[in-house]
Amino acid sequence: MHNPRELALTDAQARQAARMHDYLAAQIAAADGWLSFERYMELVLYAPGLGYYSAGAHKFGAGGDFTTAPEVSSLFGACVARQCAEVLGALGGGCILEIGAGSGRLAAEVLSRLETLGQLPARYWILDISADLRERQRDHLARRLPHLQERVQWLDQPPVEPFNGLILANEVLDALPVRRFRWHPDRVEELGVVIDAGRLAEAARPASSQVAEAGARLANSGGAWDDGYVSEYCPRLTAWTHSVTRSLRNGAALWFDYGLPRSQYYLAERHEGTLLCHFRHRATGDPFLFPGLQDITAWVDYTLLAEASRAAGFTVSGFTTQSYFLAGLSIDQEMHKMAGGDANRFARLANQARQLMLPGEMGERFKAMAWLRGLNLPLSGFALQDLRHTL
Ligand SMILES: C[S@@+](CC[C@H](N)C(=O)[O-])C[C@H]1O[C@@H](n2cnc3c(N)ncnc32)[C@H](O)[C@@H]1O
Repeated sequence: MHNPRELALTDAQARQAARMHDYLAAQIAAADGWLSFERYMELVLYAPGLGYYSAGAHKFGAGGDFTTAPEVSSLFGACVARQCAEVLGALGGGCILEIGAGSGRLAAEVLSRLETLGQLPARYWILDISADLRERQRDHLARRLPHLQERVQWLDQPPVEPFNGLILANEVLDALPVRRFRWHPDRVEELGVVIDAGRLAEAARPASSQVAEAGARLANSGGAWDDGYVSEYCPRLTAWTHSVTRSLRNGAALWFDYGLPRSQYYLAERHEGTLLCHFRHRATGDPFLFPGLQDITAWVDYTLLAEASRAAGFTVSGFTTQSYFLAGLSIDQEMHKMAGGDANRFARLANQARQLMLPGEMGERFKAMAWLRGLNLPLSGFALQDLRHTL
């Protein structure tokens, strides 16, 4: 790991970091000197005008902080589109709601593929919390698919009217704020944030009954924990997924993110949790570095996501790795199709496919989960490997 504190900030970034620091100090003071980590994560990601997703941080691509599967290659979107076509075909048409559409690449790829397949959705809705990214999505889609602009709509809330179709979310669940706890055999502490000597610092206090109960419930779910085991959980995942999927009457929700089934997430060896922070393509591991300028995420507990599916009235119809999801949707055929016989282009696509699929890259850490409601359909993305028994 690099020493990111040595990374120079631009003047504008330094000013934004200073404003965010003052804002957090005021929030901490107003909360009697201690903020839960969940509230801290919410503020640094979403505080109006200051948070990572609400201010103009660059985020994606070479000049940004991280890269995602749709940014790595159009192959990802082409395969997702194949999965969408299957579902839309079985439903006789429908709409797509994408949550957290980033730069708009996945939307553009899915729409252009579905157009080729003669399976365009009646509407492609985008629900994204970031005003800055919504603008980028509009620009990208206007450039790539000007003739489909009318079909795309940006929403401030999940659709109210029931609809048939699909919900897509790639790397959104990992941004939902998490509670952090430290477990001891006789008690649970909650980790929060204080100002110590003018700097943000971690501080523990006795856990509230809700956090103590969660810590006790999760304890030892992945082997015998040592005293002082630190991890996190996402208390809002169930309510959030319920609210964004409520209006899907018949169809599928497809979730993609890095994560694990609970028994692996809370493995005894993973005693520092799964928080992951990114600043200019460096994993920093320090959530207090450049607050508001770096992305903070936590891995997804896929067992919790499966429980959330039942609570929301869906069934989990598939759970697999990104690698097997893409293989099940014939990524090899897509590579040939996109290369169109050009050997150099094929070599470039093969490199991208390796990045998406190799275990040491995105292939295994990233998982795909499908929820179905009102539809009984084997999904090709989940046909080659079924990991539901691990949930
Ligand atoms: C890591 S980016 C992933 C973007 C895109 N899906 C991709 O794969 O490139 C997370 C996206 O989710 C959005 N987002 C984060 N939290 C959200 C929330 N609570 N509701 C809706 N969108 C959210 C962000 O603005 C951003 O577009």
